[in-house]
Amino acid sequence: MKNTITTIQEQKRKKDKISMLTAYDYSMAKLIDSAGINMILVGDSLGNVMLGYENTIAVTVEDMIYHTKSVVRGVKDAMVVTDMPFMSYQASVYDAVVNAGRIMKEGGAAAVKLEGGIDIVPQIKAIVKASIPVVAHIGLTPQSVHAFGGYKVQGKEEKDAKRLIEDAKAVEEAGAFCVVLECVPAKLAKLISESLTIPTIGIGAGAGCDGQVLVYHDMLGMFSDYKPKFVKNFGDVGKVMKEAFHKYIQEVKDEVFPGAEHEYAIADEVIDKLY
Ligand code: KIV
Ligand code: NA
Repeated sequence: MKNTITTIQEQKRKKDKISMLTAYDYSMAKLIDSAGINMILVGDSLGNVMLGYENTIAVTVEDMIYHTKSVVRGVKDAMVVTDMPFMSYQASVYDAVVNAGRIMKEGGAAAVKLEGGIDIVPQIKAIVKASIPVVAHIGLTPQSVHAFGGYKVQGKEEKDAKRLIEDAKAVEEAGAFCVVLECVPAKLAKLISESLTIPTIGIGAGAGCDGQVLVYHDMLGMFSDYKPKFVKNFGDVGKVMKEAFHKYIQEVKDEVFPGAEHEYAIADEVIDKLY
């Protein structure tokens, strides 16, 4: 079944939890989509896990479009959401609409995701008005890493918690059809989820959210640079891959691979004439 903004919002009403994972290329998108995921996020986390940057600051609109095109070709049923990268929407409403439009038109995404609350309400309103669905993202917003002074849980103090609730209400009113809550205390995320009509998708925000999202490298043990508390390992794929690479190297050295079954034949009378 095709996932759309309508089915995603229906899931909240039916208390049917929404599943979301990142993907950045065709083959992985196809695997995740065929497993029955609701939403695929082409996250700007590709800066970290695909491009090897220290943070997401350097990721460009071109990077996002390139990866979105690859993902969309592998997806049948999931709703594909693409992150708007740093400085593609912060400076002006005009930038926001033009870049969201490029991501949808050239990349093929069904929605865009922007980091920020009250501060980016004009951008969210304008993008939605241009018929581009918006996913908001509040709490720990990695594009603000330098402003935060590092990656920290958000909303622990009363003032910050109040601000987060206001941000959540503001993005809902601005027209976002769902909102990602990143690194928010579980009880606060639950309160926000209960006070919104749009679904919340948590990452490090506990079980009270209407859905969950993870970076696939994290949940498959494929990324070892750091491991946040909220990550759960759902399969040691990184380890399985490494073992397979070792086995391949050894079989090449030992002349075990390729075997006869992997070779193409040529008639003896042809090859004999070549000697
Ligand atoms: O870029 C990303 O993968 C994200 C998720 C972690 C929410 O924004
Ligand atoms: Na992101």
